Amino acid sequence: MAELAQSASLEQIENVRVKVLGRGGELTELLRSMREVPAQERPAIGQLANQVKRDIEERIEVLKNELRRRALGESLARAPLDVTLPGVQFPRGHIHPLTQITERLLDIWAAMGFEVIPTPDIEDDFHNFGALNFPSDHPARDMQDTFFLGDGLLLRTHTSNGQIRVMERRQPPLAVVCPGACYRRDELSVRYSPMFSQIEGFAVDEFGKITMAHLKGALTEFLRAFFGPTSQVRFRASFFPFTEPSAEADVRCIFCAGTGCRVCKHSGWIEILGAGMIHPNVLRAVGYDPQRYSGFAFGMGVERLALIKLGVDDMRLFFENDLRFLTQF
Ligand code: DAH
Repeated sequence: MAELAQSASLEQIENVRVKVLGRGGELTELLRSMREVPAQERPAIGQLANQVKRDIEERIEVLKNELRRRALGESLARAPLDVTLPGVQFPRGHIHPLTQITERLLDIWAAMGFEVIPTPDIEDDFHNFGALNFPSDHPARDMQDTFFLGDGLLLRTHTSNGQIRVMERRQPPLAVVCPGACYRRDELSVRYSPMFSQIEGFAVDEFGKITMAHLKGALTEFLRAFFGPTSQVRFRASFFPFTEPSAEADVRCIFCAGTGCRVCKHSGWIEILGAGMIHPNVLRAVGYDPQRYSGFAFGMGVERLALIKLGVDDMRLFFENDLRFLTQF
């Protein structure tokens, strides 16, 4: 203990420890020679020796800790560390706003019992047009609108090919949404992009079980879930080759609450999606008997929904990936 008290460094302390407690140390030797102690004194002496050993070990620990603490204090005093300085910030990424919106849209449909099934971007004429009842001279097949890849392949111009792909390999009852990228020969501009995303949806069951009323109900439910429970929805008659009857759904302009503004072109309504009852020719094309089955379908543009929901006024912002824009979402 006296020697320890004089030890000024970790090294000196270690020397004392080896000398006393090491393999051949004084106390170690003493403990080893306990056999020579008369049996009746052994317990008392053994206890004492062990107590001494523990005391020395404890003292060594205390001294070592004190030395380490002092060394740390000295090193901090030599090179002062200002713990109040701001740390280095590492930029942390997050999910792209379009992906966030897509996930939200799919969540709503999934909650209504729709299965999510992605289908291919690279298609043939049959799945993108023919089976969807586009007449062979329809202008959408024109070179101006569609990216043709050669060998009879093209980049799908809408996700409606998803209806055909899924119905071809499955039997009703079906309630499905098909998200994915679509392509058209458009210049990138405020409102258009050569690549964009859609979500297609459809429900098919025995003839008569699914009506236009179900379509209206499902779409109204969906639009209220997405835009808020008080949003107003209206349906207008429309035309698509793959639905009969066809409709388009509008929501009350969320920018002007219907009083008229630039975004809604002063109509008070914003067009959101196309829909209708699946045309009998489409059902025939996938081998369903239109006397036995019927259903509804709808298709919506994700960018358009994102623009309105997020209050963004230029489609290009979604594709430029400028962090000053992205970090706002
Ligand atoms: N395919 C249409 C488009 O790209 C959207 C659409 C309209 C899909 C009506 C449908 C539908 O399923 O019934 O503009």
